[in-house]
Amino acid sequence: MTAPADHPTAPSTAAAPAHADSPAASDTGHSAPAPHARLAGQVALVTGGAQGIGLGVAERLARDGAHIALHVRKEDDRSAQARRTIEAHGVRCQVFAGDLSDVNRMRAVVAEAQAAFGRLDVLVNNAGLELRADFLDTTEEDYDTVLDVNLKGAFFTAQAFARALRDAGRPGRIIHMSSVHEDLPFPHFTSYCASKGGLRMMMRNMAIELAPLGITVNNVAPGAIRTPINDDLLKQPDKLAALKAQIPLGRMGEPRDVAGAVAFLASPDAAYITGATLVVDGGLLWNYAEQ
Ligand code: BGC
Repeated sequence: MTAPADHPTAPSTAAAPAHADSPAASDTGHSAPAPHARLAGQVALVTGGAQGIGLGVAERLARDGAHIALHVRKEDDRSAQARRTIEAHGVRCQVFAGDLSDVNRMRAVVAEAQAAFGRLDVLVNNAGLELRADFLDTTEEDYDTVLDVNLKGAFFTAQAFARALRDAGRPGRIIHMSSVHEDLPFPHFTSYCASKGGLRMMMRNMAIELAPLGITVNNVAPGAIRTPINDDLLKQPDKLAALKAQIPLGRMGEPRDVAGAVAFLASPDAAYITGATLVVDGGLLWNYAEQ
């Protein structure tokens, strides 16, 4: 069993605080996003942002004008590269390291991000991992590893974010990175399915409780996306072919496919959407063919 972590992350550089409404031009030569970019001046906290879907989402929100508080598991070359990639879109990006299962640390990450940018508008609870093990063989350690990041981490990060918005009297958007496996069984990945099924009900409850605060809460449910979480699979041509045969659109998804859905849910166009799961899977979830 093994399990590549997808969206995990890493830390932060001590960045000079600056106000979110005055994006600094990056030193990459790219200019700042147009003032009419749909998230111009907003600040998005993205967990697990060093690679895979998280990085794709952070880049896309940056393209839409948002400054990015990039949560990563640990600071390293990869997180530094991710920051540069995001800054190339002309927005500010600061990295914050933290273990998702450490509730106090994640509360501090939210507080540090708010202090650094002066505001928070969007949380993308993206970080997640999966471990392959038969149900009969799954250990307590495997279970805790998966649930602590995918569900507990998402729960308390969202709680800290929502409290911060409540205290600031500001509306916002929370988007959880779920999976088709919030509904669809995935044999040998029961701990992962438990976390994603939990995320589905957590999102629905949060949507109701946070609506009076003007905070919408939704899930994006990717299918098979080409990211590090699928490294093992991508190296096995026969398994890959079998998976593609299950996908009506005939290809794996790319991080940008998922990022577009997140950007939509963060945008003004989605103001009246809360409590929903947006599936991004090329048709995988409901593919059933007989005769
Ligand atoms: C999992 C992948 C899997 C995909 C489609 C995702 O949630 O992380 O491992 O290939 O669902 O089943």
